[in-house]
Amino acid sequence: MIVLGIETSCDETGVAVYCTDRGLLSHQLYSQAKTHAEYGGVVPELASRDHVRKLPHLTRLAVQEAGIEMSDLDGVAYTQGPGLVGALLVGISSAKALAAGLGIPALGVHHLEGHILAPMLAPEPPEFPFVALLVSGGHSQFIEVLGVGQYRLLGGTIDDATGEAFDKVAKLLDLPYPGGPHLAKLAEQGDPKRFAFTRPMVDRPGIDLSFSGLKTQALVQAKALAVDGKVEGQDAYDLAASFEYTVAETLFIKCARALKETGLNRIVLAGGVAANQTLRKRLADLDAELYYPPLAYCTDNGAMIAYAGAVRLSAGQMDAAQIQARPRWPLEELSRVG
Ligand code: KG4
Ligand code: ZN
Repeated sequence: MIVLGIETSCDETGVAVYCTDRGLLSHQLYSQAKTHAEYGGVVPELASRDHVRKLPHLTRLAVQEAGIEMSDLDGVAYTQGPGLVGALLVGISSAKALAAGLGIPALGVHHLEGHILAPMLAPEPPEFPFVALLVSGGHSQFIEVLGVGQYRLLGGTIDDATGEAFDKVAKLLDLPYPGGPHLAKLAEQGDPKRFAFTRPMVDRPGIDLSFSGLKTQALVQAKALAVDGKVEGQDAYDLAASFEYTVAETLFIKCARALKETGLNRIVLAGGVAANQTLRKRLADLDAELYYPPLAYCTDNGAMIAYAGAVRLSAGQMDAAQIQARPRWPLEELSRVG
């Protein structure tokens, strides 16, 4: 089965083609980061318009790169939610129109299921069951994954998402949006032990996370270090490294707890922050097998949607005719496959 996947939930337009026999055939991505950078965050209306502008071209490119014709497609998967409703609707209506025109089924995919299953695109994918640590710009959750559609939420952030905390601390250092990867770059030259930030919620039992206190600690430190309102040079490197180190240590401790609670010995790191090398290195110390998606499929992309869609379409699932975006969508409502 050959499936086209379309991702438009936020500020990345992603289109990919996945074949259940041959694997991923193509992957096209356009990031709107530059469009939103001057506003310091995603502007929903601009995001929707940019998806309208880019999606038809990227779809043609993805099909071309896969070496197939549109008529070879067996299904179209798209991100149905969660996400920005206007941005979602662009992908949904395009996917539905394309599927109707070709006379093939369309299927709405849960964005977080896409992230959780993205490691299946790696050369050595994990087997079920596993604990997923999903850390992105909008979510931070520990999920027990027993199979496709069998998800149990173990814990999550009570305030900011991990990526959001990275982005906000990056902003203190005047880094462009989204700041996570820029902060990680600065941290490479910094001393992670220079500022002893408290690791949030590790002395309390449980798996929940919180980043607002750590963010405030970083803000107070940034103010103390600032010269003419700016933190620069070694001070900026050390602040970035100390923040990143504290996040990695905290997630390490919570992952160990999630593994203990579930009795599982496999952990899958997914979502945009899964691209963070310090975090990957730290989690490798866990007494468990560690998996993460190839770098290109950590942040939002069409490949993970094409993959998740292909699994569900192959199991005979397909949409009804109506168009429905689900800006909020609990992961545990998904139907089980197999
Ligand atoms: O999964 P994603 O592309 O979008 C959402 O679904 O939210 O995640 C984007 C988030 C942003 O907050 C970005 O700063 C963060 O992932 N991110 C990183 C890195 N690469 C992306 N954070 C830390 N280190 C990185 N290398
Ligand atoms: Zn995402």
